[in-house]
Amino acid sequence: MVRVREAWATRIGLILAVAGNAVGLGNFLRFPVQAASNGGGAFMIPYFISFILLGIPLMWMEWTIGRYGGRYGHHSAPGMFAVIWRHPIAKYLGALGLFISLTIMVYYTYIESWTLGYSIFSLLGLYFDNTTFESAKEFLLSYQGLKPDGPFSSVLVAYLFLLVTLGINFYVLSKGISGGIEKLARIAMPTLFVFAVLLAIRVLTIQTDPAIHKATVWEGLGFLWNPDLSALSDPKVWLAAAGQIFFTLSLGMGTIHAYASYLRPKDDIALSGLTTASINEFAEVVLGSSIAIPIAVVFFGVQATQEIAQGGAFNLGFVSMSVIFSQIPFGEFFGFLWFGLLFFAGITSSVAMAQPVISFLEDEFRFSRGKAVAIIAVLTFICIQPVVFLLGHGFLDELDYWGGTFMLVVFALIETILFAFVLGVDKGYQELMRGADIHIPEWFKFVFKYITPLFLIIILGYWAITDAWRVLLLEGVSPDAIPYRWAARGLMVLFTIGICWMVYRAWQYRRQMGLRDDVIEVPID
Ligand code: ALA
Repeated sequence: MVRVREAWATRIGLILAVAGNAVGLGNFLRFPVQAASNGGGAFMIPYFISFILLGIPLMWMEWTIGRYGGRYGHHSAPGMFAVIWRHPIAKYLGALGLFISLTIMVYYTYIESWTLGYSIFSLLGLYFDNTTFESAKEFLLSYQGLKPDGPFSSVLVAYLFLLVTLGINFYVLSKGISGGIEKLARIAMPTLFVFAVLLAIRVLTIQTDPAIHKATVWEGLGFLWNPDLSALSDPKVWLAAAGQIFFTLSLGMGTIHAYASYLRPKDDIALSGLTTASINEFAEVVLGSSIAIPIAVVFFGVQATQEIAQGGAFNLGFVSMSVIFSQIPFGEFFGFLWFGLLFFAGITSSVAMAQPVISFLEDEFRFSRGKAVAIIAVLTFICIQPVVFLLGHGFLDELDYWGGTFMLVVFALIETILFAFVLGVDKGYQELMRGADIHIPEWFKFVFKYITPLFLIIILGYWAITDAWRVLLLEGVSPDAIPYRWAARGLMVLFTIGICWMVYRAWQYRRQMGLRDDVIEVPID
């Protein structure tokens, strides 16, 4: 059976799409919160070390595995792992890549839809009466359906924005790689950067008045950028920094692999991988850190900003920012820029999360794109219901802990072992350098083979010693929330069983159709 292979139309489109995959809510919401709640300057050193020892090597490994799998007609992790390791279990290890991306997609799109809602509310000035943190918090809770006596009597408005957000996501996905995802990235990424630069300029040039403000913008920047070497000995800060690197670069999710698999065998991946990682870090470290934290410090002070951040990403990104917009001139406009920026950042990442499962259905079951997108749309719609209606009970947090944090490290360890020891680090390096526009020094092989896996093992080992039992037994969780946390775990178990069953059926189908894993669909020359 001859298949029409999808591909990226242009290199800049590919770079923007992968950068869009990486640049997301993590850069502008999660990063400031992680940085502020882990001591500001104390966080940045482990963060940069993790970027170099985990971020860049994993980025290159994922691009390499992705392009390698794509040659054999596999655009999702199960098939990619199956061609690297010809063992029946390999495809089930790859199934983790489908599980993670799907789990994150389910809660991520809901948060993304709030940003769409809030960007419209900004233009309409809807939240501008809330000039205190408490009243802005009530507004958010009411919007989320958690406070029916607030401005929203139910979750209906949030639900409508969710439907619109899902509609846009699946519309883009139905148009395919170059016609949908690439086109979206070409519009959303430049827009997002313009919005972010305008906001950063606004924040950095703010005139502070001691009668109104709690600190200057420079104190806000100092809080983040004055290094604090004492925190280097705190493993928790290291874990938070490494976790942020995973999330922000979309590593260990299976999504980078899917995007890279639509390259041709001799397209550069070395420079492209490095460029997308750098664009992401620019968005996160330069732009992400110049907006929410400094402005929060100006309006609330350093101490209160830390407390707000410790209260979670939504307090900083939605609550404190909406208080600030209601107090500055042209707040409607700047509020629209902030939430619009979050929406664009979010949607270019959420389409990436759906793509691995769509590719899986297309490749392994030979479904049409329309059918594959329709299946994912229905599945996401069903699974998102408890996220919406059980939000106040920690359902989303449980999905985020396992699907969006812990499993990324596990998946990354598996793929590092496959790359460095099964494919072999020499062959892996050779693959990475094929068609490369830059030379990666050979000593990087040592990093791939020893440093990155060791770092990952230390992270997992430390977690096992300090956190595993406490987290597994839900210690410290309010007794009311425990059944819902277990329900979230139940959903993840169902996902796992469902995905493994699909993988099993797919390979049965492949056998019946006489399809083999190791047939090259795209020759090198
Ligand atoms: N990398 C994506 C983000 O940062 C998932 O939001």
